[in-house]
Amino acid sequence: MDNENLDKAIELVENANNLAILTGAGISAESGIPTFRDEGGLWKEHRPEDIATPEAFAKDPQFVWEWYDLRRQTIIEAEPNPGHFALVELENKKEGFTLITQNIDGLHKKAGNKSMIEMHGNIWQMRCTKCGHIYHDYEVPLKQIPPSCEKCGEMTRPNVVWFGEIIPMSAIDACVVAIDKCDVMLIIGTSGVVEPAASMGLMAMRSGKKVIEINLDATPGTGMYDISLRGKSGEILPEFYKHTTEYN
Ligand code: OAD
Ligand code: ZN
Repeated sequence: MDNENLDKAIELVENANNLAILTGAGISAESGIPTFRDEGGLWKEHRPEDIATPEAFAKDPQFVWEWYDLRRQTIIEAEPNPGHFALVELENKKEGFTLITQNIDGLHKKAGNKSMIEMHGNIWQMRCTKCGHIYHDYEVPLKQIPPSCEKCGEMTRPNVVWFGEIIPMSAIDACVVAIDKCDVMLIIGTSGVVEPAASMGLMAMRSGKKVIEINLDATPGTGMYDISLRGKSGEILPEFYKHTTEYN
């Protein structure tokens, strides 16, 4: 671990009134949820276009739902790790705090974060393909695949954003507001290759914000951001709140 950079990052976070956080699958890795692109990642086993696209779902909803059902079985067993909990501490201590996540696992909420934008949706929500009704469903494993809408009985789909789909404008707007408002942005555990999340660090940099990346490996943003910390988010993030005094 690079202690000099860690100290600089701690100081930036300590002095910030407003934080914007962007997380990806890496923050949940220490909770036992596989990432997408690392060794053993989900996209090493399947091609994303065979699962995470509207075309894949139209072609074989049974197959897509079976994959999501397995993911739900993994995720329901998972508990938030020290990285998630550190973000709850930071939310409680800072005047302004917005957590933007690409994760659909719901672990930030389970940890206790409140101000959250789930930009890729949530695996525990069903969305009816016919009437559009959205509701929570925690049944694991699913008794019926594909599941039927609780309201009209037609087929549901996971309420997540697939490749080729548009992220709801309200979520994008909220991200822009959070980045605009922040003093410091933390980018945690994301490979930075999927838009629009991939460009959010650059957006923050261009409007003069300090950007700190926390990742096991280098990403396309490393070298461009103010500070890049290499290591596990579950080990690095607790260092931040330990040094952050209560906001009052
Ligand atoms: P990726 O799997 O692309 O990247 C995970 C990142 O986390 C990598 O850069 C790892 O180096 C890093 N990482 C792994 N373990 C870590 C740890 N313990 N601490 C810190 N970093 C760690 O996942 P995402 O960037 O989240 O979208 O992927 C973005 C989107 O692509 C996902 O939301 C999903 C996927 O396809 C959709 O399905 C639409
Ligand atoms: Zn319906």
